[in-house]
Amino acid sequence: MKKGFFITFEGPEGSGKTTQARKLEESLRDKGYFVRLVREPGGTAVGEEIRQVLLRKGREIVPLTELLLYQAARAQNTDENILPFLDQGGIIISDRYADSSVAYQGYGRGLPRDEIERINRMVCSGLRPDLTVLLDLDPEVGLERGNKEEFDRLEQENLDFHRRVRNGYLEMSREYDHYWTLPATENPEILQDRILKKVLTLLESRAQMGKGENN
Ligand code: TYD
Repeated sequence: MKKGFFITFEGPEGSGKTTQARKLEESLRDKGYFVRLVREPGGTAVGEEIRQVLLRKGREIVPLTELLLYQAARAQNTDENILPFLDQGGIIISDRYADSSVAYQGYGRGLPRDEIERINRMVCSGLRPDLTVLLDLDPEVGLERGNKEEFDRLEQENLDFHRRVRNGYLEMSREYDHYWTLPATENPEILQDRILKKVLTLLESRAQMGKGENN
């Protein structure tokens, strides 16, 4: 069993993941936990450069190139940041992770899900989140929350694309026990409280399990 705890935030555009991930990081740090927030794509020098290539507007990127660029950024982030921090017993909060590739490049772009999952397994060295918080939102509402002038290459995709992404997430949430789905339309402070409580409960039960193993 790995020593640390791995939490990911997933969801469609405009779901408020980034804000919730930051708030959770702050609250856990205030409580004395060893915690680090990372984001995808990005989180490393190489990853941030790949991010710029991926999100810049006006570029034609074929789906397979898109998938492999996200995976390249993820491989670097996993090896450089995530695994070493978890090995030290820390809590990693990731603003998006491998399931974003399943939702966007799989359900959104139509690449085969099983192939994406196979690459994910290799890139993540088999690592899976202990908890995935899915902030679910109707993409029409999510895209309305943003400023169209500032939309990046992915946000500029049509509504059907974003609907497929959302459905992909909802499908994964039905399949996986570590998913916890919350309505992104809920008041952000209430969401923040609920997420913190859930994480503290999970950390507490993990600590109890650890004690049991040592006895
Ligand atoms: P970002 O500005 O971080 O958006 P958000 O706040 O919605 O996370 O941009 C990341 C974009 O990249 C977002 O549109 C989702 C997309 N993405 C993928 O298509 N595949 C992936 O594997 C990842 C990690 C992100």
